[in-house]
Amino acid sequence: MNPGWNLCDPAIMGNEDSMYALFRELRDNAPACYVDHPDFEPFWAITRYDDIRAISQNNAEFINNPRTVLIQQEFEKALLEKFGTRNGLETLIHMDDPKHKKLRNVTRDWFKPGPIERLTDDIRTIARQYVDKMEAIGGECDFVKDVALLYPLRVIMSIIGVAPSEEGMMLRLTQELFGGQDPTQSRGQNVQDGLEVLMDFFGYFTGVVEDRKKNPSDDLASVLANALVDGEAMEQLDQISYFIITATAGHDTTSATTAGGMKALIEHPEQLAKLRADPSLSRQAAREMIRWTSPVRHMMRTTTKDIELHGKTIQAGESLCLWYPAANRDERSVDNPDVFNIERDNRHQLAFGFGGHMCLGQHLAVLEIALFFEELLPRLEHIELLSRPEWVQANFVGGLKSMPVRCAFEPA
Ligand code: HEM
Repeated sequence: MNPGWNLCDPAIMGNEDSMYALFRELRDNAPACYVDHPDFEPFWAITRYDDIRAISQNNAEFINNPRTVLIQQEFEKALLEKFGTRNGLETLIHMDDPKHKKLRNVTRDWFKPGPIERLTDDIRTIARQYVDKMEAIGGECDFVKDVALLYPLRVIMSIIGVAPSEEGMMLRLTQELFGGQDPTQSRGQNVQDGLEVLMDFFGYFTGVVEDRKKNPSDDLASVLANALVDGEAMEQLDQISYFIITATAGHDTTSATTAGGMKALIEHPEQLAKLRADPSLSRQAAREMIRWTSPVRHMMRTTTKDIELHGKTIQAGESLCLWYPAANRDERSVDNPDVFNIERDNRHQLAFGFGGHMCLGQHLAVLEIALFFEELLPRLEHIELLSRPEWVQANFVGGLKSMPVRCAFEPA
């Protein structure tokens, strides 16, 4: 069997050992691997760092539209019928320039380092609340369910302007969207179930847009609701999709990293001790946690011309799937990639992608992860795993589903 088929198997991708073993096999033996799985339109799996970086940087010849993430053919067909696009959404990751640049500009200033740094005190307060909660639970908790899923959710929802009472519903919808391949997270396995999840997002954010048009405030929802592009209001599909990507990408990724980062610190106590002794390493440590967990597993591009890659011809119009965790563990480009080292120089890692679509929320992500561990570690006396953590079965955005821990806090 073509090893690339395993990329389509959520159970293999939802287990870090089998996922990284598969990536090693592909990098070493089939770095440009043609995958013709019966459930998906064929694609080329790209797993080496240099290839992914070069493809991501060339936004003119490797475009995002029409195919951005791996979706089963049956579902792509239903999305095309319902929304007129095979992705169902029209977010920044589904567009190319010039439209992409114009829409990215709507929030670009919001996510620059300066404005993000100004959120430090507010985010630190939220981080402290979740460390307080962890301490109050006392002794044993599920670090994923009790802390990691909820803290980044509160951060991004407070930035967008979604009330805390609605966060539970947003979390469920995000899990149904990204965890659609995992029977414990999906609404159901039918195409109709997936469409209903999208319709629920649309229904909710349509109400938010109407509200912020009437009652604008200083939140991100007001920016998106009232934005003009070329002097015109945004198309409804573009606008609601913008809300959806900000709301979902804004917490699922950072939750997965907070949880995966905690697990990495537990499994590398010398790194935990180093970070505890020197909190000024927190940003560097956050970047290493992001490389280590690489929660966005892939994005796709379509080539506009025939190319040769590792002896294969990829024809114009064919799709390439870029596997970020594979790139970040490629020993051809990353020194000792399987070593978790919070002092590593991570400026060139690819977890945030690269080129014109590079993650808009990257400064926010690093800040909120760093602040959480700055708040937690001085108070934490001890932490250990209670049982084997469980992973979400997913090949788009993935991470831990559950991680029971035992912990003790320093006396007040
Ligand atoms: C550890 C956390 C995160 C990781 C690993 C991550 C990863 C990524 C990746 C791989 C891309 C696609 C890049 C490409 O195609 O080259 C992306 C795009 C994006 N991310 Fe993130 N992300 C994270 C956190 C966030 C946060 C907190 C937000 C906040 C809203 C966010 C918003 C976005 C948006 C809006 C895009 C689309 C950018 C575009 O296409 O122009 N992300 N992210």
